[in-house]
Amino acid sequence: MKAAVYSRHGRADVLEIEDVQKPAPADNEVLIEVRAASLNPIDAGSLRHPFARRILFALSRLKITGPGRDVAGEVEAVGSQVTQFKPGDAVFGWCGGAFAEYACAPESALAIKPANVTFEQAAAVPVAGLTALQGLRDKAQIQPGQKVLVNGAAGGVGTFAVQIAKSLGADVTGVCSTRNVEMVRSIGADHVIDYSQEDLTRGGQHYDVMFDLVANHSFSARRRVLNPKGIYIGAGVLGLGGSMARLLAHQVGELVQSPFASQRFITLMAKLNHADLTTMGELMEAGKVTPVIDKRYGLSEVLEALRYLEEGHARGKVVLTLDCGD
Ligand SMILES: NC(=O)c1ccc[n+]([C@@H]2O[C@H](COP(=O)([O-])OP(=O)(O)OC[C@H]3O[C@@H](n4cnc5c(N)ncnc54)[C@H](OP(=O)(O)O)[C@@H]3O)[C@@H](O)[C@H]2O)c1
Repeated sequence: MKAAVYSRHGRADVLEIEDVQKPAPADNEVLIEVRAASLNPIDAGSLRHPFARRILFALSRLKITGPGRDVAGEVEAVGSQVTQFKPGDAVFGWCGGAFAEYACAPESALAIKPANVTFEQAAAVPVAGLTALQGLRDKAQIQPGQKVLVNGAAGGVGTFAVQIAKSLGADVTGVCSTRNVEMVRSIGADHVIDYSQEDLTRGGQHYDVMFDLVANHSFSARRRVLNPKGIYIGAGVLGLGGSMARLLAHQVGELVQSPFASQRFITLMAKLNHADLTTMGELMEAGKVTPVIDKRYGLSEVLEALRYLEEGHARGKVVLTLDCGD
């Protein structure tokens, strides 16, 4: 089968498409014929930082077999201990090595794809959708009527966050650049701040929750936009430009100052699980969440797709489509 493989660490242009052996599922695993996969900033980061890649895969309990995590496809075979899936099922979830014609995933990292959701849409969900769901529903515990600010609303996570916050009954403000204002409004944002025209921390508005995917504001500026009992959920670091020094300064500043603030500051690390994938499937099936797909690429174009994502201005999700037939 064809698969993208890590050749040596470096930028995305050292990823190669090779003929490799089709994987065989372990006892608790499902072998998937991949129909679509989606890209996340961490896929590009994993290429540049193989050591960080190993730590992240260890934390997420996935086997490292190749690049790509978000997958959707058809079950071809199952391991001896798998009880929830059978050959022919359409599934989506997380695996190690999604940028390939076949991939293995643990049963616990998959859910059934609803029939009215395409493989591309389902592949867009796992990392980005679960990050938004766990940040807003679990960490922020959004209540109907609360005012929620999503900084980075036009990207992969942000487009899910806007829709999930709306489905939880929040009054949602999305932050994006001029070209994405209409798109962010179209997915349900009640208000949109164009960051190229307005500094969100200077508008005099206060929010119950700030869901931040960018990290481009100081601690005092973030406090300024939150209500006295507000909650800040930091999930992304787009605005730090991949600089470890800036990331460290951001985290240390927050750690030192947050005990003296009336608001709560939380750093989110999304965790894969079957129940949340199923919830996302239900939200999509009910039409409450529709993944926003920006660009589609073939498997052989994976480098181009990663380079596009690395520019930092994707509108929703970037997906690879493998003979999808949706
Ligand atoms: N903690 C976790 O578990 C977790 C999980 C998934 C992702 N993440 C992180 O979350 C971040 C977002 O991920 P993603 O998948 O959404 O990335 P993405 O799809 O690449 O996000 C791109 C979006 O960021 C927006 N953006 C860039 N600069 C901005 C700014 N200054 N203000 C507001 N928006 C800005 C862009 O909008 P414009 O084009 O309009 O500028 C673009 O739509 C990344 O740092 C990622 O590593 C964390």
